[in-house]
Amino acid sequence: MSKKLLCIMCCLFTTLTTFSQNKEESLSTPELFDFVLLKCDLSSPVESKDAIDGAFKKGLNGIFINNKELASYATNKGMVAVSKYTMSKCQTILDNIKNKTTLVFARERSDGYLRNALLDHCFVALLNDTISGEERWLKKLINSSLDIRTRLINNNTRMVVDVTNKSSIPYHIHITQCDNLKPEQKEVTLSPMSQTTLFLNGDDIKSPQYTLRASIKNAFNTEKKPLEYAFRLRGMDYMVGTESQNMYNIIPAPRSLEEKQGKFIFNKETRIILKDKNAEAPLRFLTDRLTRIAQLPLKIQKSTKNISGNYLIFSRANDPTLGNEGYKINISPEQIQVLADKEAGFFYAIQSLLQLLPPEIYSNTTAYTNEWSIPAANITDIPQFEYRGLHLDVGRHLYPVSFIKKYIDLMSMQKMNRFHWHLTEDQGWRIEIKKHPKLTEIGSMRKETIINRYSAAIPGIYDGTPYGGFYTQEEIKEIVAYAKERYITIIPEVDLPGHMLAALATYPELGCTGGPYEVGTRWGIYDDVLCAGNENIYPFIEDVLLEVFKLFPGEYVHIGGDECPKTRWKSCPKCQSKIKELKLKDEHELQSYVIRRVEKFLNKNGKKLIGWDEILEGGIAPNAALMSWRGVAGGITAAKSGHPVIMTPNTYVYLDHYQASMDISPLANGRICALEWTYGYNPIPKELTEQEAKHIKGVQANVWTEYIKTPEQVEYMAYPRANAVAEIGWSSPEHKNWEDYLDRLQYQFKRWQFYGLNCATHYKSFSPQTQRAQR
Ligand code: ACM
Ligand code: ZN
Repeated sequence: MSKKLLCIMCCLFTTLTTFSQNKEESLSTPELFDFVLLKCDLSSPVESKDAIDGAFKKGLNGIFINNKELASYATNKGMVAVSKYTMSKCQTILDNIKNKTTLVFARERSDGYLRNALLDHCFVALLNDTISGEERWLKKLINSSLDIRTRLINNNTRMVVDVTNKSSIPYHIHITQCDNLKPEQKEVTLSPMSQTTLFLNGDDIKSPQYTLRASIKNAFNTEKKPLEYAFRLRGMDYMVGTESQNMYNIIPAPRSLEEKQGKFIFNKETRIILKDKNAEAPLRFLTDRLTRIAQLPLKIQKSTKNISGNYLIFSRANDPTLGNEGYKINISPEQIQVLADKEAGFFYAIQSLLQLLPPEIYSNTTAYTNEWSIPAANITDIPQFEYRGLHLDVGRHLYPVSFIKKYIDLMSMQKMNRFHWHLTEDQGWRIEIKKHPKLTEIGSMRKETIINRYSAAIPGIYDGTPYGGFYTQEEIKEIVAYAKERYITIIPEVDLPGHMLAALATYPELGCTGGPYEVGTRWGIYDDVLCAGNENIYPFIEDVLLEVFKLFPGEYVHIGGDECPKTRWKSCPKCQSKIKELKLKDEHELQSYVIRRVEKFLNKNGKKLIGWDEILEGGIAPNAALMSWRGVAGGITAAKSGHPVIMTPNTYVYLDHYQASMDISPLANGRICALEWTYGYNPIPKELTEQEAKHIKGVQANVWTEYIKTPEQVEYMAYPRANAVAEIGWSSPEHKNWEDYLDRLQYQFKRWQFYGLNCATHYKSFSPQTQRAQR
């Protein structure tokens, strides 16, 4: 991404979404993700806008203000105004922390407003490396800062404790005691954003839990004593990597899996036999993890000659039923036989093998387990759908290249194969177009962003902060290549003729009124769209698409077509004369004319068109594929008329929608779309005959990002629901089972923990019954 990502987020302004294992005590306050951390100077109230600007520049996101007008100025910048009244409620604590920068917990409401901006006694003072405040708030801060994972090694005589400090506060920890275990270290320093590994020894570690008592040297309670803290460590009940029983927890569920006795145990002498060249590139994904994480740099050879120990053998299946993506694996203690006919088949076999290994294999650095083994089984696996997609909108908010790669990586682990990249929007043009550099110079930047949920009755509040950025063509090429290595095709989307405000801000002459226009700063639909009666829009569209074709080698290009109001076209002389000239019935047919003309251009260039279900209105273009998003009706109509269809109904697979009750969720779009509800979705509508159902090519989950500012939040919204969609896309309905999926998901959570994914864990509180009641 270009370095212009201007979203100003103080590093302390952290949404406290955690997957933490160390719930030290249960506080009466709601779950942590309800809170944001404010950094404020509470020593005296600010008296001017300049002072607010200064505090904002310093990275403070909370501010002490007594004046209503100034408070609204600060709020518009996205800061939280702390009033004298609230301050007065916390006087004793404030007396202790005068003149210090102070961290405050503020509870975030699901509609995005900060309520109880200062909860009683919720201050934590921060001065250099020390923090001080009331004990329970210090504990809450520590609890939310540290992610702790334990596992047992050396035949249950050594406990490994990985501690990640996710905050910008350092912790100096003195370990005093841990039940009957002996700590190998006493003093531990956890720098901000760092990771440390502790080791504890015992004769036979078998309790389900251990309590590690420590004193936090740089955290002082109200009696000015270092804080005593008890970390809860999971023991026997969280012995990942040491299961005595074979575990089969593959997601998506394979077509057939026959469990067997025994297991294949890796050792330094284990060999890899590569018989089929198609396995060579995918094999890297296994050997890389075995080498880096398990410290097993296994030798690869072409034949089974001179082999004394166990081995993995990768051979050609010569089985047409496996198709492009199917595979077979036969695992015994002596041998793992992997069979496929295509590279993608071997790649998916390797994803299954990785899931059969202990979840530590997904770590980012060397991991320790009792053994690296794979339970014996015979697996035959073939996907149900050829298209298994996940979408990401980078128009509303954008994310670094490294995150896009992580997103792709996560998809590939669950055998998804299409990444729908929504690259242009009213609120930002995100793809570099060499012929039109202005599109990113002007169209990629918006002057500010709305921060509340507005309506006719509630005016919008804006943050006053420019936001923007785009992906260069070099970055896009890098991402396309990265996806290709993981057998993922990217479907780029250039959304037209609606959702084009960023382009109109760049080239106002392409709109019906001629502008001026500015890049969108609020969410929703804009009336200003490309002028369908203006012949000049076509060379523009074609210039853009020609560069898109060069960057994205896949056969499909998404041209949007959704949410294009006809308001401007109705009163535009050019649009109206186009309707007359072409003898069209109405503006819907005019939109259809635009899409058909773009389709011709795509087809001429060897590409195929895919669009949202609005492309049905006024007549679908002859060769178009359709994405059914407004429920399933569009998909049914298109399939009945023989068009390829991807099902992506907002009622089931819109991952920007809430996944749990709004009371316990950060602000999101739409209604509730809970995990179980999503999992229960069958992409084949029952209205279709067997023949018509063949036109349903797959399923896709969409992640729109109006309320998703950070990569962590994308992860939180997308997972675990994207994982459920992966299973819907790969496994046939007879292999889907909610209870069984939930069991497997618990193991998947462990994999994600090691991998470092900020997934949501409160899906259980929400059943489809509750959801139905809310609809
Ligand atoms: C869409 O959600 N507007 C396709
Ligand atoms: Zn017009």
